[in-house]
Amino acid sequence: MKAHVTIDRDVAIGDTHERLFGAFVEHLGRCVYGGIFEPGHPEANEKGFRRDVLALVKELAPTIMRYPGGNFVSGYNWEDGVGPVEQRPRRLDLAWMSTEPNTFGTNEFIDWCREAQIEPMLAVNLGTRGPDAARNLVEYCNHPGGTAWSDLRRAHGWEKPHDIRFWCLGNEVDGPWQMEHKTAWEYGRVATESAKMMKWIDPRLELAACGSSARNMPTFGVWEREVLEHTFDHVEFISLHTYLNNYADDMPSFLASADLMDSFIDEIVAIADAVAAERRSDRRLMLSFDEWNVWYRTRGKREGRTVPGWPVAPRILEEVYTMGDALAFGGACISLLNHADRVKAACLAQLVNAIAPIMTETGGPAWRQTIFHPFAQMSNLGRGRVLKSRVESETYATNYYDPRGTQEHRFAMPTVPYLKSAAVHDRDGGFVTLFLLNRHLQESLDLEVELRGLQATEVALARQLRHDDLSAVNTKDAPDTVSPAALEGVRIAQGRLTATLPAASWNVVRLR
Ligand code: AHR
Repeated sequence: MKAHVTIDRDVAIGDTHERLFGAFVEHLGRCVYGGIFEPGHPEANEKGFRRDVLALVKELAPTIMRYPGGNFVSGYNWEDGVGPVEQRPRRLDLAWMSTEPNTFGTNEFIDWCREAQIEPMLAVNLGTRGPDAARNLVEYCNHPGGTAWSDLRRAHGWEKPHDIRFWCLGNEVDGPWQMEHKTAWEYGRVATESAKMMKWIDPRLELAACGSSARNMPTFGVWEREVLEHTFDHVEFISLHTYLNNYADDMPSFLASADLMDSFIDEIVAIADAVAAERRSDRRLMLSFDEWNVWYRTRGKREGRTVPGWPVAPRILEEVYTMGDALAFGGACISLLNHADRVKAACLAQLVNAIAPIMTETGGPAWRQTIFHPFAQMSNLGRGRVLKSRVESETYATNYYDPRGTQEHRFAMPTVPYLKSAAVHDRDGGFVTLFLLNRHLQESLDLEVELRGLQATEVALARQLRHDDLSAVNTKDAPDTVSPAALEGVRIAQGRLTATLPAASWNVVRLR
């Protein structure tokens, strides 16, 4: 099978924003406790942060970290997580049916972010709380001092303001599973009033309103429109979430499903711009894709996602990712890169243990899941100007459907090209990096890339991720079963790159 790609130095989609390469830490299962934070672990530092996890996070290279939820935030009292640890209350968390000990809270999270050199992104509770708690949290975090909330932060030991810029106005408020789920009108009002007060305290804030929690939500589209009618002048971002799935056990369709993210993004851009047009506004809202990943094995019904008895940090959502999952995930990375003009923030959900690229054993080691690799490559090598890729490739028909969507909210999937690709030009470093997914399960792909106006003459790096068995996984005892290897035979001459991409493979080629 053959494919041809054309890229041109002067035909660009847009520049990647640093925040495109974010991830997410929620109080969920063992993401915080036993994940990033485990006092007493042999690798824990004096703050209880696991150094082995920090080292893997550094390699993964996320740039912004969303916290503390997710569903969790819609029932969270932020005041429970600050102040002397021994005085903090234990609470039932109704999002994940567990007990929250509150030994890790906002200040510890900020310390962890500073240590990891990652920008924090905070979500406020617009479920069981509202604008008042939200503005108090902003005052606690960002006001220098001289008021009750800011002086409380100082009394807690954090003299300098945290200076948190990016805030999410609630989480998945469109979903009936959310604590104090709201209609678009109810949420639009609450989000607007929260935004106003939060920005009166700190005008430098950048705010994201909740868009749809999935494209197959019955309210998708109508939700965005109504929420933006309220919030348009008060926010910079509208959020969206996607979890790719293989419920149907149909690998070709699963690998195609990342293309639905492309449609989802385009549709939300259209709605945001339509709201702008109605107001005669040239303001352009950006998209915060603040939850995305592959997730289906540990999803399903609530019973399958929780452990009885209200445990602390239960082993839930510990999805073990396969080689096949890493391919679908790579497709999602390409979708994000190819929308760098409007997706200016994105968070891989999540970071450790719960649907995560990094796994740990409580008291034991940490290792990389299969999906770790495409993300690390995208984050480390995918920064710059994304060039438009004109892809000529054979296509295939898919049977994609999401059994969680109701009949009328399933989306038909058109045929998709076997090759999915993105190209990023790092003009400062003089690199062009290609991200290439061969979705054909049996055939390798002879690729030719025509590089117009680009001076690349040399292959600086060529890596592939593949395994004969698409169900192969990485485990504590075999952590490198699926890991990148050299992609041999990549050549560049007279502005043309040639390579053979193995069947069912994710590939990264960097030229200079
Ligand atoms: O990331 C896991 C959960 O998925 C989040 O808590 C929620 O926002 C989404 O439904």
